[in-house]
Amino acid sequence: MKRTAVYPGSFDPVTNGHLDIIHRGLKIFDQIIVTILDNPAKKTLFTVEERIWLLKESLGDIERIEVDSYNGLLVDYAQKRQAHALLRGMRAVSDFEYEFQMALMNRRLNREVQTVFLMTGLRWIFTSSSIIKEAAQFGGDIESMVPPVVQKKLQEKFGHPAKP
Ligand code: PNS
Repeated sequence: MKRTAVYPGSFDPVTNGHLDIIHRGLKIFDQIIVTILDNPAKKTLFTVEERIWLLKESLGDIERIEVDSYNGLLVDYAQKRQAHALLRGMRAVSDFEYEFQMALMNRRLNREVQTVFLMTGLRWIFTSSSIIKEAAQFGGDIESMVPPVVQKKLQEKFGHPAKP
C-alpha cells in the first residue's frame, strides 16, 4: 500500500523550515501532498496561486511530491486523496497547544486519519512565515531562512532592492 501524507498549511510563504519537514517526511512516506488552505476569509500576503508557484519553484521536480490547495475540512480532503496521515512540523513548546487541539479535532472528525509530527530542525526553530514577513517588510536580511525565489518575491512585494 502506498503511504501518502498530506502536509497542510498556509505557506504564506514557504520557508526553509517547511522544506526541511517535507524532505524528512519523504523518508517516512511514499508520497507527500503539500496542500494550501484556500480560505478567502484569511488575509494573506500571497495569493493561493502565488503560494503554489513558490512551493513548486522551491521544491523543484520531485516525483513523490505534489502541490495542491483545498478548502473545507482537512480530513475530508485527506480522505478524498486517499491519504492516511497528516504531516505537521512542531517547533517550540509554543506550537504544542495549537497543534494538539488541531490533531484532536481532526481525529474526532475522522479516526482513519493519523497526525504525524516531525520536530523542526534546530536551525529552523525560530523560523515562521509571519516573523519572516515582518523582517522582510522592514528590509531585514532573511536570506538564510527562505528559498531564493521566496526572498526575491518578498523583496518585490515590499519594494526593497535585492542585496548584492
Ligand atoms: O499553517 P497553518 O496556518 O498553521 O495551517 C493550519 C491549517 C490550514 C492546517 C488548518 O487551519 C486547517 O486545516 N484548516 C482547515 C479547516 C479544518 O479542517 N479545520 C479543522 C481542524 S482545526
